Amino acid sequence: MKDSSPDRVFIFDTTLRDGEQSPGFHLDSNAKVRIARQLEKLGVDVIEAGFPISSPGDFEACRRIAREIRGATITALARAVKEDIDAVWGAIKEAETPQIHIVLSVSDVHINRKLGMTREQVLKRGAEMVAYARSLCENVQYSPEDAGRADPDYLVETVETMIAAGANVINIPDTTGYCLPWEFGEIVRRVIGDARGSNKALFSVHCHNDLGLAVANTIYAIDAGARRVECTINGIGERAGNTSLEEVVMLLNVRKKKLGLECGVNTTEITRTSRLVSELTGTPVQPNKAVVGANAFAHASGIHQDGVLKDRLNYEIMKPEDVGLADSRIVLTARSGRHAFHHRLNRLGIALAEGKDDEAWQRFLQLADTKKEVTDEDLRKIAAMSDSNGTNGHEGNGHPPVTDQLHDHNHVADTLRHMIFG
Ligand code: KIV
Ligand code: ZN
Repeated sequence: MKDSSPDRVFIFDTTLRDGEQSPGFHLDSNAKVRIARQLEKLGVDVIEAGFPISSPGDFEACRRIAREIRGATITALARAVKEDIDAVWGAIKEAETPQIHIVLSVSDVHINRKLGMTREQVLKRGAEMVAYARSLCENVQYSPEDAGRADPDYLVETVETMIAAGANVINIPDTTGYCLPWEFGEIVRRVIGDARGSNKALFSVHCHNDLGLAVANTIYAIDAGARRVECTINGIGERAGNTSLEEVVMLLNVRKKKLGLECGVNTTEITRTSRLVSELTGTPVQPNKAVVGANAFAHASGIHQDGVLKDRLNYEIMKPEDVGLADSRIVLTARSGRHAFHHRLNRLGIALAEGKDDEAWQRFLQLADTKKEVTDEDLRKIAAMSDSNGTNGHEGNGHPPVTDQLHDHNHVADTLRHMIFG
């Protein structure tokens, strides 16, 4: 896969179309335009603004995005029917670079059970609609839906028919997230290798995450020759979501030497974009989500904290600054070590009174066992207590020694909170 000069992978963001299809994720036109502006800053190559035939509001959102956003190709989705294609064209024709995206099934299960058509009818309909779209717009993308479960020979036939009809981007979707990575890579390799005219089209992929394989399948597809990838911010999308943009972009970035690939995304805008999408969709990002989760750059255990404080390279494969985060987070918990405890005290400018180090550390551990995270405020109080005990004597405050009070968990929690917070 490696090349001497890196190959470009184009990033197609479908947060505003497939992402917004997630249950409970409705975005109005103002919210969509705000996200599109942020995607413009992020530097994605293509923004899929919506599905204009679906509602007047979505038509309007697509139209505003096409008028206001510069730099990225603006596309929107149409089924293989003229009304949908007209709606897309009406909504996006004022874009700097508009593209019509047509979807029509290719798997037998969809052709028989969803469309009630024959393979021949589907080919004919697809080719007619591609030709119609090309009569309106120079850029037409065709997505054979459910390609991951389709007969590969029929998929190849479909792809060559649509290229002959004028499609200049072919997007291979694993609509149901069914494929294994190497299977999906093989499908993409076969289509690119076998479809006549494939040199005239750009090959793209669109993976779903039903089995948690969307990013893996996307990378295998890139390895097989796909040079455009469809993805969403925070991996949102139908059911279990789509390929996560931040994961695939950082994978290309962090493993650039190995993969020999690059993309045009300004990675320092990733965190800001993720937070905006989370805020406007009202959906928090899971804390352990790769790249953008709250814990993605947080270290809680003593062993890891010690390693990171000695050199971040010990436990970080990418810099938080590269995704637009100010810093990694050292989270003080009951699993933390003394190195992290002292590091945080130093950062807070707190010097423990002479000889009070062990005592303060014991107080820290006792408190840490009662809560999820020891805060800076807690540390200030621990230090102040150790200091005042140093002057006035610990037993002099009327409390028995801390360890004598450890009767049960609740009592410990109450006692420590009382000791620290009064
Ligand atoms: O999952 C899918 O197949 C889609 C197509 C419209 C590309 O979302
Ligand atoms: Zn999809």
